[in-house]
Amino acid sequence: MFNETISVFSASLCLCVGLFTCMSRDAIALAMTGASGAPYGLRLLECLIAARCKVYLMVSAPAQVVLAQETELEVPGRPEAMRAFFAERFGAAEGQLEVFGRDQWMAPVASGSNAPQAMVVCPCSTGTVSAIAMGASDNLIERAADVMIKERRPLILVPREAPLSAIHLEHMLNLARLGVTILPAAPGFYHRPQSVQDLVDFIVARVLDHLRIEHRLGRRWGDGPEASR
Ligand SMILES: Cc1cc2nc3c(=O)[nH]c(=O)nc-3n(C[C@H](O)[C@H](O)[C@H](O)COP(=O)(O)O)c2cc1C
Repeated sequence: MFNETISVFSASLCLCVGLFTCMSRDAIALAMTGASGAPYGLRLLECLIAARCKVYLMVSAPAQVVLAQETELEVPGRPEAMRAFFAERFGAAEGQLEVFGRDQWMAPVASGSNAPQAMVVCPCSTGTVSAIAMGASDNLIERAADVMIKERRPLILVPREAPLSAIHLEHMLNLARLGVTILPAAPGFYHRPQSVQDLVDFIVARVLDHLRIEHRLGRRWGDGPEASR
């Protein structure tokens, strides 16, 4: 009887550990850096949480300046306060959202042994594009991206700059050749957007498609009136 109880207990423990391990490796890392386009990153975070993804969030110091410039939000700078702020705003479940600071080298994203399922840098500054292309790994965002490349896991960058110089383009080409997805924050207009939110959702929808996460952000090409033209 005692032995049976022990084996049921250890089986459940294994199952729990198995589930926990699976959840950690299934996480999506989302980094927001200091390019214009904070609303893209915020909407993506909201959608990932709504899709019940485990999210590892990193927000660079310049991204916090951009957030203050482009939104009405007063986002706290410290990781734990930021986690509480976004968890409440987007209704994250207990443990669903973790926030890491620029030098938090003990975070799972810092190592290939515990790399997330995918990583998105949205928006992505040309500074961070350059650092990732050069393998600088000088802060946690750059290191996490470097890990994704070396582990050959999906990495999506959403750069925003105009015009793009040869430096920017060369970095992006090198990264694309390494398998990184370059998904510029350049929304289309063929879906006849009615609001800024429609434009934001256009880009976020493409990111979610690349993450293979179901969504209902706008209709797809061929599902609307253009299909009968
Ligand atoms: C309001 C604001 C808007 C900015 N917009 C852009 C931008 O659209 N693209 C870009 O590459 N950098 C932009 N920058 C400059 C970056 O924030 C800067 O290069 C910073 O060092 C990037 O650091 P990070 O990649 O670590 O966040 C902007 C800065 C500010 C304050």
